[in-house]
Amino acid sequence: MDLILSDIHSNLQALNVVLRYARRRAIQRFVLLGDVVGYGAQPNQVMEKVLGMKPRFIVRGNHDRACSVRGADQHFSLPAKGAAHWTRDRLSRENLRILRNLPAGPLAVGEDYVISHGSPLDEDSYLLHPQDALEAFDGFEGPLCFFGHTHLPCCFELDEVAQVLTPYLLEPGEWFQLKKDCRYLVNPGSVGQPRDRDPRLSFMTYDTRRKRLKLHRLEYDHSGAAREILEARLHPNLAERLFYGI
Ligand SMILES: [Fe+2]
Repeated sequence: MDLILSDIHSNLQALNVVLRYARRRAIQRFVLLGDVVGYGAQPNQVMEKVLGMKPRFIVRGNHDRACSVRGADQHFSLPAKGAAHWTRDRLSRENLRILRNLPAGPLAVGEDYVISHGSPLDEDSYLLHPQDALEAFDGFEGPLCFFGHTHLPCCFELDEVAQVLTPYLLEPGEWFQLKKDCRYLVNPGSVGQPRDRDPRLSFMTYDTRRKRLKLHRLEYDHSGAAREILEARLHPNLAERLFYGI
């Protein structure tokens, strides 16, 4: 079983809940789709936990880049830019070095699937709509790509023979069986800053043998994460949005 995590965004409270879940399961590989840091108030603590997981496969997100490379935040909103500067000033030299050297996607996870932060065609592109997905299927080989960046859990299924694209909203806690003759683009949602109006953290597990995946939504201490953001004097919107999942 692989654990697929994206967009943790320096949210230690949320990550701790995911790790508690993982300890009770036989997880073979920890797979991260980028944006480990940015927005939240505990970047070094989150980096320590992430490195402790020994993730076999990880790609960089736009926030990982903006927080570790000067000038990489040109297209950020003011709160995001403020958080990126705040994070860069606080990350240890070793964590800055690790973030700066994360590979860009798409990256192959063995022979099972590929991962990217944004679209597999362009790591900074938001893959939101069926039309985006249709084009993005050209960006990778094989049956399955996990991506992040939008913070919205979803699944696009492409039947190339019938030329039909079907978007799915997955039901938390239920297995979703991948079909043999279809290709998939799947977003596990965001651990640290969900944006689908559900404040519960979001991630997925993928059963590589049986080719089925499951969305998980779990409660966490979002008040605690918000309090850390306010105490750090980051933009208050970054705290408030955690209560609403926006
Ligand atoms: Fe993100």
